[in-house]
Amino acid sequence: MRTQVAIIGAGPSGLLLGQLLHQAGIDNVILERQSGDYVLGRIRAGILEQVTVDLLREAGVGAGVAAGGTVHHSIELVFGGARHPIDVHGLTGGRVVTAYGQTEVTHDLMQARRAAGLATVYEAADVTPLDFDGDRPRVSYRKDGSAHVLECDFIAGCDGFHGVSRKAVKEHVSEYEKVYPFGWLGVLADVPPVSPHAIVYGNSERGFSLCSMRSLTRSRYYVQCPLDDKVDDWSDQRFWDELRRRLDPDLAGRIVTGPSIEKSIAPLRSFVAEPMRFGRLFLAGDAAHIVPPTGAKGLNLAATDVKYLSSAMIEFFSERSPAGIDHYSQVCLKRVWKAERFSWWLTSLMHRFPDTDGFAQKVQEAELDYLVHSKAASTALAENYVGLPL
Ligand code: APR
Ligand code: PHB
Repeated sequence: MRTQVAIIGAGPSGLLLGQLLHQAGIDNVILERQSGDYVLGRIRAGILEQVTVDLLREAGVGAGVAAGGTVHHSIELVFGGARHPIDVHGLTGGRVVTAYGQTEVTHDLMQARRAAGLATVYEAADVTPLDFDGDRPRVSYRKDGSAHVLECDFIAGCDGFHGVSRKAVKEHVSEYEKVYPFGWLGVLADVPPVSPHAIVYGNSERGFSLCSMRSLTRSRYYVQCPLDDKVDDWSDQRFWDELRRRLDPDLAGRIVTGPSIEKSIAPLRSFVAEPMRFGRLFLAGDAAHIVPPTGAKGLNLAATDVKYLSSAMIEFFSERSPAGIDHYSQVCLKRVWKAERFSWWLTSLMHRFPDTDGFAQKVQEAELDYLVHSKAASTALAENYVGLPL
Protein backbone atom coordinates (compact mmCIF):
# COMPACT_ATOMS: atom_id res chain seq x y z
CA MET A 1 0.00 0.00 0.00
CA ARG A 2 1.18 3.55 -0.72
CA THR A 3 0.05 6.96 0.56
CA GLN A 4 1.52 10.46 0.75
CA VAL A 5 1.43 10.80 4.54
CA ALA A 6 1.38 7.86 6.96
CA ILE A 7 -0.06 9.06 10.26
CA ILE A 8 0.62 7.01 13.39
CA GLY A 9 -2.11 7.50 16.02
CA ALA A 10 -5.81 8.42 15.75
CA GLY A 11 -6.01 10.79 18.72
CA PRO A 12 -6.93 14.43 18.08
CA SER A 13 -3.50 15.21 16.51
CA GLY A 14 -3.58 12.40 13.96
CA LEU A 15 -7.24 12.85 13.09
CA LEU A 16 -6.98 16.63 12.69
CA LEU A 17 -3.84 16.33 10.57
CA GLY A 18 -5.55 13.74 8.36
CA GLN A 19 -8.53 16.01 7.86
CA LEU A 20 -6.48 19.14 7.04
CA LEU A 21 -4.33 17.20 4.55
CA HIS A 22 -7.41 15.67 2.96
CA GLN A 23 -8.96 19.13 2.52
CA ALA A 24 -5.80 20.08 0.59
CA GLY A 25 -6.02 16.95 -1.59
CA ILE A 26 -3.20 15.10 0.18
CA ASP A 27 -3.76 11.40 0.60
CA ASN A 28 -3.16 9.93 4.07
CA VAL A 29 -3.64 6.72 6.04
CA ILE A 30 -3.91 6.52 9.85
CA LEU A 31 -2.57 3.51 11.77
CA GLU A 32 -4.00 3.28 15.30
CA ARG A 33 -3.09 0.68 17.90
CA GLN A 34 -6.43 0.72 19.70
CA SER A 35 -10.07 0.41 18.61
CA GLY A 36 -12.11 3.53 17.85
CA ASP A 37 -14.27 2.95 20.95
CA TYR A 38 -11.20 2.73 23.15
CA VAL A 39 -9.88 6.05 21.80
CA LEU A 40 -13.26 7.69 22.48
CA GLY A 41 -13.35 6.33 26.03
CA ARG A 42 -10.38 8.42 27.16
CA ILE A 43 -11.52 11.52 29.03
CA ARG A 44 -9.20 14.52 28.70
CA ALA A 45 -9.53 18.28 29.13
CA GLY A 46 -12.10 20.45 27.42
CA ILE A 47 -11.09 24.06 26.84
CA LEU A 48 -10.39 25.21 23.28
CA GLU A 49 -8.45 28.32 22.34
CA GLN A 50 -9.88 30.30 19.42
CA VAL A 51 -7.06 29.06 17.17
CA THR A 52 -8.19 25.49 17.83
CA VAL A 53 -11.84 26.31 17.14
CA ASP A 54 -10.80 28.05 13.88
CA LEU A 55 -8.70 25.08 12.85
CA LEU A 56 -11.57 22.65 13.45
CA ARG A 57 -13.71 24.84 11.21
CA GLU A 58 -10.97 24.89 8.54
CA ALA A 59 -10.81 21.11 8.76
CA GLY A 60 -14.55 20.97 8.01
CA VAL A 61 -15.53 19.82 11.52
CA GLY A 62 -16.62 23.09 13.13
CA ALA A 63 -20.32 22.26 13.41
CA GLY A 64 -20.07 20.28 16.67
CA VAL A 65 -18.22 22.96 18.59
CA ALA A 66 -20.41 25.72 17.09
CA ALA A 67 -23.55 23.92 18.29
CA GLY A 68 -22.32 22.30 21.52
CA GLY A 69 -19.49 24.54 22.76
CA THR A 70 -19.98 27.13 25.51
CA VAL A 71 -18.05 30.39 25.18
CA HIS A 72 -16.26 31.49 28.35
CA HIS A 73 -15.40 35.15 28.88
CA SER A 74 -13.75 34.68 32.26
CA ILE A 75 -12.26 32.25 34.75
CA GLU A 76 -12.56 32.23 38.51
CA LEU A 77 -9.89 31.64 41.13
CA VAL A 78 -10.92 30.45 44.59
CA PHE A 79 -8.53 30.93 47.49
CA GLY A 80 -8.75 32.04 51.09
CA GLY A 81 -12.40 30.92 51.03
CA ALA A 82 -13.41 33.57 48.43
CA ARG A 83 -13.96 33.65 44.68
CA HIS A 84 -12.06 36.07 42.42
CA PRO A 85 -13.18 36.50 38.80
CA ILE A 86 -10.58 37.17 36.08
CA ASP A 87 -12.18 38.98 33.15
CA VAL A 88 -10.27 37.21 30.40
CA HIS A 89 -12.36 38.81 27.66
CA GLY A 90 -11.87 42.35 28.94
CA LEU A 91 -8.16 41.91 29.69
CA THR A 92 -7.33 40.49 26.24
CA GLY A 93 -9.28 42.94 24.08
CA GLY A 94 -12.18 40.59 23.46
CA ARG A 95 -10.70 37.11 23.27
CA VAL A 96 -12.46 34.06 24.70
CA VAL A 97 -12.11 30.28 25.08
CA THR A 98 -14.72 27.62 24.35
CA ALA A 99 -15.66 24.74 26.64
CA TYR A 100 -15.97 21.64 24.42
CA GLY A 101 -14.57 18.24 25.41
CA GLN A 102 -11.67 16.47 23.75
CA THR A 103 -13.90 13.39 23.49
CA GLU A 104 -16.38 15.43 21.45
CA VAL A 105 -13.58 16.86 19.26
CA THR A 106 -12.30 13.33 18.61
CA HIS A 107 -15.80 12.09 17.88
CA ASP A 108 -16.43 14.90 15.34
CA LEU A 109 -13.08 14.24 13.62
CA MET A 110 -13.70 10.48 13.47
CA GLN A 111 -17.12 10.99 11.96
CA ALA A 112 -15.76 13.39 9.31
CA ARG A 113 -12.98 10.95 8.44
CA ARG A 114 -15.48 8.11 8.07
CA ALA A 115 -17.79 10.29 5.95
CA ALA A 116 -14.88 11.21 3.64
CA GLY A 117 -14.05 7.52 3.24
CA LEU A 118 -10.46 7.98 4.43
CA ALA A 119 -8.43 4.94 5.45
CA THR A 120 -7.91 4.31 9.15
CA VAL A 121 -6.50 1.00 10.31
CA TYR A 122 -7.64 0.47 13.91
CA GLU A 123 -6.05 -2.24 16.07
CA ALA A 124 -2.83 -2.06 14.03
CA ALA A 125 -0.10 -3.93 15.96
CA ASP A 126 3.69 -3.50 15.93
CA VAL A 127 3.55 -0.23 14.02
CA THR A 128 7.16 0.68 13.13
CA PRO A 129 8.40 3.78 11.27
CA LEU A 130 11.27 2.87 8.90
CA ASP A 131 13.77 4.55 6.54
CA PHE A 132 12.67 8.09 7.42
CA ASP A 133 16.22 9.40 7.05
CA GLY A 134 15.96 8.83 3.28
CA ASP A 135 13.28 10.01 0.84
CA ARG A 136 11.31 6.73 0.74
CA PRO A 137 10.04 6.18 4.28
CA ARG A 138 7.81 3.21 5.16
CA VAL A 139 5.74 2.06 8.11
CA SER A 140 5.37 -1.63 8.85
CA TYR A 141 2.53 -3.03 10.96
CA ARG A 142 0.45 -6.13 11.58
CA LYS A 143 -3.30 -6.35 11.25
CA ASP A 144 -5.28 -9.49 12.15
CA GLY A 145 -2.05 -11.45 12.21
CA SER A 146 -0.79 -10.46 8.71
CA ALA A 147 2.22 -8.23 8.04
CA HIS A 148 1.77 -5.02 5.98
CA VAL A 149 3.99 -2.21 4.75
CA LEU A 150 2.74 1.31 4.05
CA GLU A 151 5.02 3.30 1.74
CA CYS A 152 4.82 7.08 1.96
CA ASP A 153 6.52 10.46 1.50
CA PHE A 154 6.25 11.49 5.15
CA ILE A 155 5.50 9.89 8.51
CA ALA A 156 3.61 11.88 11.16
CA GLY A 157 4.17 10.54 14.68
CA CYS A 158 0.90 11.52 16.36
CA ASP A 159 0.98 8.55 18.70
CA GLY A 160 0.96 10.23 22.09
CA PHE A 161 3.38 10.09 25.00
CA HIS A 162 3.68 6.28 25.00
CA GLY A 163 3.87 5.93 21.21
CA VAL A 164 6.47 4.27 19.04
CA SER A 165 7.57 7.31 16.97
CA ARG A 166 9.62 9.08 19.64
CA LYS A 167 11.09 5.72 20.70
CA ALA A 168 12.27 5.17 17.12
CA VAL A 169 14.53 8.24 17.38
CA LYS A 170 15.40 8.13 21.06
CA GLU A 171 19.16 8.34 20.57
CA HIS A 172 18.71 11.67 18.72
CA VAL A 173 16.28 13.27 21.20
CA SER A 174 16.91 15.60 24.12
CA GLU A 175 14.22 15.17 26.76
CA TYR A 176 13.22 17.70 29.43
CA GLU A 177 10.89 16.47 32.14
CA LYS A 178 9.27 17.43 35.42
CA VAL A 179 6.98 15.08 37.33
CA TYR A 180 4.68 16.57 39.99
CA PRO A 181 4.21 14.98 43.44
CA PHE A 182 0.39 14.62 43.18
CA GLY A 183 -2.36 13.53 40.80
CA TRP A 184 -5.80 14.72 39.74
CA LEU A 185 -8.85 12.67 40.62
CA GLY A 186 -11.46 13.50 37.98
CA VAL A 187 -15.19 12.80 37.99
CA LEU A 188 -17.59 13.12 35.08
CA ALA A 189 -21.29 13.33 36.01
CA ASP A 190 -24.53 14.14 34.25
CA VAL A 191 -25.39 17.11 36.45
CA PRO A 192 -25.51 20.81 35.50
CA PRO A 193 -22.13 22.51 35.99
CA VAL A 194 -21.93 24.74 39.05
CA SER A 195 -20.21 27.42 36.97
CA PRO A 196 -21.37 27.14 33.35
CA HIS A 197 -19.72 30.35 32.17
CA ALA A 198 -16.29 30.22 33.83
CA ILE A 199 -13.93 27.41 34.80
CA VAL A 200 -13.18 27.57 38.53
CA TYR A 201 -9.62 26.91 39.75
CA GLY A 202 -9.38 26.46 43.52
CA ASN A 203 -6.43 26.52 45.90
CA SER A 204 -7.30 25.57 49.50
CA GLU A 205 -5.35 24.16 52.41
CA ARG A 206 -6.84 20.77 51.41
CA GLY A 207 -5.38 21.06 47.91
CA PHE A 208 -6.34 22.06 44.37
CA SER A 209 -9.84 21.72 42.91
CA LEU A 210 -11.34 22.45 39.49
CA CYS A 211 -14.95 22.89 38.34
CA SER A 212 -15.38 22.35 34.61
CA MET A 213 -18.03 21.13 32.22
CA ARG A 214 -18.69 19.25 29.02
CA SER A 215 -22.13 20.75 28.34
CA LEU A 216 -24.93 22.46 30.24
CA THR A 217 -25.98 19.03 31.52
CA ARG A 218 -22.60 17.33 32.00
CA SER A 219 -19.95 18.41 34.52
CA ARG A 220 -16.29 17.59 34.98
CA TYR A 221 -14.73 18.15 38.41
CA TYR A 222 -11.29 17.42 39.81
CA VAL A 223 -9.50 17.39 43.17
CA GLN A 224 -5.76 17.11 43.74
CA CYS A 225 -4.94 13.77 45.41
CA PRO A 226 -1.85 11.81 46.51
CA LEU A 227 -0.25 9.84 43.67
CA ASP A 228 -0.67 6.53 45.46
CA ASP A 229 -4.44 6.95 45.97
CA LYS A 230 -6.60 4.43 44.11
CA VAL A 231 -9.90 5.25 42.41
CA ASP A 232 -11.55 2.67 44.68
CA ASP A 233 -10.51 4.75 47.72
CA TRP A 234 -12.86 7.45 46.44
CA SER A 235 -16.60 6.77 46.66
CA ASP A 236 -18.74 9.37 44.87
CA GLN A 237 -19.81 10.70 48.27
CA ARG A 238 -16.20 11.16 49.41
CA PHE A 239 -15.39 12.99 46.17
CA TRP A 240 -18.32 15.42 46.40
CA ASP A 241 -17.62 16.12 50.10
CA GLU A 242 -13.95 16.81 49.37
CA LEU A 243 -14.74 19.06 46.40
CA ARG A 244 -17.16 21.13 48.50
CA ARG A 245 -14.60 21.55 51.27
CA ARG A 246 -12.13 23.07 48.79
CA LEU A 247 -14.52 25.71 47.37
CA ASP A 248 -15.99 28.92 48.75
CA PRO A 249 -19.24 28.45 50.72
CA ASP A 250 -21.47 29.89 47.96
CA LEU A 251 -20.20 27.58 45.20
CA ALA A 252 -20.02 24.61 47.58
CA GLY A 253 -23.69 25.12 48.43
CA ARG A 254 -24.69 25.19 44.76
CA ILE A 255 -22.89 22.03 43.53
CA VAL A 256 -25.39 19.56 42.15
CA THR A 257 -24.15 16.03 42.78
CA GLY A 258 -25.02 12.78 41.02
CA PRO A 259 -23.54 9.37 40.21
CA SER A 260 -20.17 9.49 38.46
CA ILE A 261 -20.11 8.15 34.91
CA GLU A 262 -16.29 8.17 34.83
CA LYS A 263 -13.73 8.48 37.62
CA SER A 264 -9.98 8.31 37.15
CA ILE A 265 -6.68 9.47 38.62
CA ALA A 266 -4.14 11.11 36.31
CA PRO A 267 -0.52 11.93 37.13
CA LEU A 268 0.80 15.40 36.20
CA ARG A 269 3.87 15.81 34.05
CA SER A 270 5.72 18.46 32.05
CA PHE A 271 7.77 16.97 29.19
CA VAL A 272 9.37 18.19 25.97
CA ALA A 273 11.31 16.21 23.35
CA GLU A 274 13.60 18.17 21.03
CA PRO A 275 13.75 18.34 18.06
CA MET A 276 10.36 17.43 16.59
CA ARG A 277 11.62 16.47 13.11
CA PHE A 278 13.92 13.61 12.09
CA GLY A 279 14.34 13.52 8.32
CA ARG A 280 10.88 12.58 7.05
CA LEU A 281 9.47 11.69 10.47
CA PHE A 282 7.66 14.45 12.41
CA LEU A 283 6.41 14.32 15.99
CA ALA A 284 3.21 16.20 16.86
CA GLY A 285 1.07 16.58 19.99
CA ASP A 286 1.64 14.41 23.05
CA ALA A 287 4.29 12.37 21.18
CA ALA A 288 6.55 15.42 21.52
CA HIS A 289 5.34 17.21 24.64
CA ILE A 290 3.12 16.89 27.70
CA VAL A 291 1.81 19.67 29.90
CA PRO A 292 0.09 19.26 33.27
CA PRO A 293 -3.65 19.79 32.68
CA THR A 294 -3.86 23.04 34.70
CA GLY A 295 -4.78 25.61 32.05
CA ALA A 296 -5.89 22.95 29.51
CA LYS A 297 -3.11 23.58 27.00
CA GLY A 298 -2.52 19.95 25.84
CA LEU A 299 -5.08 19.73 23.07
CA ASN A 300 -4.45 23.33 21.96
CA LEU A 301 -0.71 22.72 21.62
CA ALA A 302 -1.41 19.54 19.66
CA ALA A 303 -3.70 21.54 17.36
CA THR A 304 -1.07 24.21 16.68
CA ASP A 305 1.60 21.57 15.93
CA VAL A 306 -0.80 20.11 13.43
CA LYS A 307 -1.54 23.52 11.94
CA TYR A 308 2.18 24.08 11.31
CA LEU A 309 2.74 20.51 10.09
CA SER A 310 -0.18 20.47 7.67
CA SER A 311 0.87 23.86 6.19
CA ALA A 312 4.45 22.62 5.83
CA MET A 313 3.37 19.45 4.06
CA ILE A 314 0.90 21.30 1.82
CA GLU A 315 3.69 23.73 0.87
CA PHE A 316 5.98 20.80 0.10
CA PHE A 317 3.50 18.97 -2.13
CA SER A 318 2.12 22.03 -3.91
CA GLU A 319 5.29 24.09 -4.35
CA ARG A 320 8.02 21.47 -3.80
CA SER A 321 9.36 23.85 -1.14
CA PRO A 322 10.95 22.32 1.98
CA ALA A 323 10.91 25.68 3.87
CA GLY A 324 7.97 24.77 6.12
CA ILE A 325 9.21 21.31 6.99
CA ASP A 326 12.69 22.67 7.66
CA HIS A 327 11.30 25.18 10.17
CA TYR A 328 8.63 22.94 11.69
CA SER A 329 10.50 21.91 14.82
CA GLN A 330 11.84 25.37 15.64
CA VAL A 331 8.48 27.10 15.10
CA CYS A 332 6.56 24.57 17.21
CA LEU A 333 9.05 24.48 20.06
CA LYS A 334 8.91 28.23 20.50
CA ARG A 335 5.20 28.01 21.23
CA VAL A 336 5.51 24.72 23.13
CA TRP A 337 7.94 26.15 25.68
CA LYS A 338 5.69 29.14 26.34
CA ALA A 339 2.77 26.82 27.04
CA GLU A 340 5.06 24.61 29.16
CA ARG A 341 6.03 27.65 31.20
CA PHE A 342 2.42 28.75 31.66
CA SER A 343 1.15 25.26 32.61
CA TRP A 344 4.00 24.75 35.08
CA TRP A 345 3.41 28.19 36.58
CA LEU A 346 -0.36 27.76 37.00
CA THR A 347 0.20 24.27 38.44
CA SER A 348 2.76 25.60 40.92
CA LEU A 349 0.49 28.47 41.91
CA MET A 350 -2.71 26.48 42.43
CA HIS A 351 -1.57 23.24 44.11
CA ARG A 352 -0.39 22.34 47.59
CA PHE A 353 3.02 20.68 47.37
CA PRO A 354 3.69 18.00 50.01
CA ASP A 355 7.12 19.43 50.88
CA THR A 356 6.15 23.13 50.97
CA ASP A 357 7.67 25.09 53.82
CA GLY A 358 6.11 28.13 55.50
CA PHE A 359 8.02 30.59 53.34
CA ALA A 360 6.96 29.00 50.04
CA GLN A 361 3.35 28.89 51.27
CA LYS A 362 3.38 32.61 52.12
CA VAL A 363 4.91 33.45 48.73
CA GLN A 364 2.16 31.45 46.99
CA GLU A 365 -0.52 33.35 48.92
CA ALA A 366 1.16 36.68 48.08
CA GLU A 367 1.27 35.77 44.39
CA LEU A 368 -2.43 34.85 44.33
CA ASP A 369 -3.30 38.15 46.00
CA TYR A 370 -1.08 40.05 43.55
CA LEU A 371 -2.59 38.21 40.60
CA VAL A 372 -6.16 39.23 41.34
CA HIS A 373 -5.32 42.81 42.34
CA SER A 374 -2.82 43.76 39.65
CA LYS A 375 -4.12 44.41 36.15
CA ALA A 376 -0.68 43.61 34.72
CA ALA A 377 -0.55 40.23 36.49
CA SER A 378 -4.12 39.24 35.58
CA THR A 379 -3.51 40.30 31.97
CA ALA A 380 -0.49 37.98 31.82
CA LEU A 381 -2.68 35.13 33.04
CA ALA A 382 -5.51 36.03 30.65
CA GLU A 383 -3.36 36.31 27.51
CA ASN A 384 -1.77 32.95 28.16
CA TYR A 385 -5.14 31.38 28.96
CA VAL A 386 -6.70 32.38 25.64
CA GLY A 387 -3.49 31.32 23.83
CA LEU A 388 -0.48 33.40 22.82
CA PRO A 389 -0.42 34.63 19.21
CA LEU A 390 0.91 32.16 16.64
N1 APR B 1 0.84 2.50 17.14
C1 APR B 1 -0.29 3.13 16.72
N2 APR B 1 -0.97 4.01 17.47
C2 APR B 1 -0.48 4.28 18.68
C3 APR B 1 0.72 3.70 19.17
C4 APR B 1 1.37 2.77 18.35
N3 APR B 1 2.49 2.17 18.76
N4 APR B 1 0.96 4.20 20.41
C5 APR B 1 -0.04 5.04 20.69
N5 APR B 1 -0.90 5.11 19.65
C6 APR B 1 -2.14 5.88 19.58
C7 APR B 1 -2.90 5.92 20.89
O1 APR B 1 -3.69 4.75 21.06
C8 APR B 1 -3.74 7.17 20.74
O2 APR B 1 -5.00 6.91 20.17
O3 APR B 1 -1.85 7.24 19.32
C9 APR B 1 -2.93 8.05 19.80
C10 APR B 1 -2.36 9.26 20.52
O4 APR B 1 -3.42 10.08 20.96
P1 APR B 1 -3.29 11.06 22.22
O5 APR B 1 -2.57 10.38 23.32
O6 APR B 1 -4.65 11.59 22.48
O7 APR B 1 -2.32 12.22 21.70
P2 APR B 1 -2.60 13.42 20.68
O8 APR B 1 -3.44 12.99 19.53
O9 APR B 1 -1.29 14.06 20.43
O10 APR B 1 -3.51 14.39 21.49
C11 APR B 1 -3.04 15.34 22.35
O11 APR B 1 -4.36 14.46 24.06
O12 APR B 1 -3.36 13.71 26.01
C12 APR B 1 -4.12 14.69 25.43
O13 APR B 1 -3.68 16.61 26.69
C13 APR B 1 -3.42 15.96 25.51
O14 APR B 1 -5.18 17.11 24.73
C14 APR B 1 -3.94 16.62 24.33
C15 APR B 1 -4.13 15.62 23.31
C1 PHB C 1 -11.50 19.96 31.86
O1 PHB C 1 -12.59 20.38 31.49
O2 PHB C 1 -11.29 18.74 31.94
C2 PHB C 1 -10.44 20.93 32.20
C3 PHB C 1 -10.71 22.29 32.11
C4 PHB C 1 -9.73 23.20 32.42
C5 PHB C 1 -8.48 22.76 32.82
C6 PHB C 1 -8.21 21.41 32.89
C7 PHB C 1 -9.19 20.48 32.59
O3 PHB C 1 -7.53 23.65 33.12
